[in-house]
Amino acid sequence: MYSLARSLLFRLDAEKAHGVTLSALDLAHRLGLAKHLGTGNVDDPVTLMGLTFPNRIGLAAGLDKNADHLDALGALGFGFVEVGTVTPRPQDGNPRPRLFRLPEGEAIINRMGFNNAGVDHLVERVRRARYRGVIGINIGKNLTTPVERAVDDYLHCLRKVHAHAHYVTVNISSPNTPGLRNLQFGEHLDQLLGALREESFALDRAAGRRVPLAVKIAPDMTEEEVALVANSLETHGIDAAIATNTTVSRESVAGLPGAEEQGGLSGRPVFEPSNAVIRALRRRLPDVPIIGVGGVDSGAAALQKQEAGADLVQLYSGFIYRGPALVGECARALQARRDDSGK
Ligand code: FNR
Repeated sequence: MYSLARSLLFRLDAEKAHGVTLSALDLAHRLGLAKHLGTGNVDDPVTLMGLTFPNRIGLAAGLDKNADHLDALGALGFGFVEVGTVTPRPQDGNPRPRLFRLPEGEAIINRMGFNNAGVDHLVERVRRARYRGVIGINIGKNLTTPVERAVDDYLHCLRKVHAHAHYVTVNISSPNTPGLRNLQFGEHLDQLLGALREESFALDRAAGRRVPLAVKIAPDMTEEEVALVANSLETHGIDAAIATNTTVSRESVAGLPGAEEQGGLSGRPVFEPSNAVIRALRRRLPDVPIIGVGGVDSGAAALQKQEAGADLVQLYSGFIYRGPALVGECARALQARRDDSGK
C-alpha cells in the first residue's frame, strides 16, 4: 500500500509531499487507523540511560521538528520518537526548495536550516500529546545567534524542555547552520558540554528526576576526530552518543540527478560512513549507549548497525522510502537476534 502512496507522493515537491503525508497520518490517527499502517508493536524491551524502551527502533530527529505529529507517529510501533531540532525562537529556515529526493541513490539532500516554531510551541505540543512512549527532544541554536554564544541557546532550550523529555539531544552536527559543526571540536565542545552537564544535573536535582543528555555527531570526521569527541563525552559524563547526522560528502552519489544540491545527504549513501563512526566510538566508549542512525532501510541494515556497536537504531530516510512497515521489520530483526543469542 505504501508503494502506491509513494508513487503518488513522489510526484509532488518533496517538502509538499512531507506535509501531505503527515497530515494524512494525523487524519488516519484521528480515525483510529494509524496503528494499522505499521506492522504491529514489537515488544522487545531494553533499558538504557535509565530508560526502558519498548523496542530498539526509534524515529530520528527532523521529521517532526515541532512535535506536531507525535501521537500519529507514536502509533506506528516506534520504541521511541525524537522530536526537534528546536531552537529558542521560531525561525523560517532556508528558502525553498530545500529538500530533494535522489531516488536512484535511495537518498535525500536537505538544507532545511532548522525551520521550526520555537521551543515554547514544541513544549506545548509535547505537553498536550497523548503519546506515552519515550520522547527525545533535540535542541539547537538559532541561525542569528553567533557560535560564540551558542551555549546560551542550548541552555535556554534545555531549561524549557527538561520537564517534558525522557532524554535531550544536543545537536551539534547539522550542516545547514553555518558554524554549528565547529561545536564538535576542541574548546567549543568542552565549554558547551560542561555548561550543559552542570545545568542538566541542577535541573535533575530540582525535579527529582534524571533526564539523560545525548550528543549527536556528524559522519564527516576522521578516526582521530571521533576519538577526541569520545574523550569529551566521557569527561563530561554524557549519557549517549547519536551517530550520525547527514553528510556533506557527495562521493557515493556523484553524477546522480540532484547530487549537486547543497545540504546534508542522508539515506543509503550515509550508511557506511555512519557505521564507521559508530565503530570508532564503540572502540573508545565500550559502556556508553550509542544510538545508530544513517541509511537503515531494512531489518538486515538495522542488524548491521547493531554489529557496528549501536544499542538503539533510528530511522529517517529509509522510513520515507519504505514507509511504516520498515519500523516493524527492523524491530523484529533485532528482537530475533536477541532471541537467538538468548538460546
Ligand atoms: C534530518 N536530520 C536531522 N537531524 C537532527 O538532529 N535535527 C534535525 O532537525 C534534522 N532534520 C532533518 C531533516 C531532513 C529532511 C532529513 C532527511 C534529516 C538528520 C536525521 O535525523 C538523520 O540523522 C540522518 O538523516 C541520517 O539518517 P537516515 O536519514 O539516513 O536514516
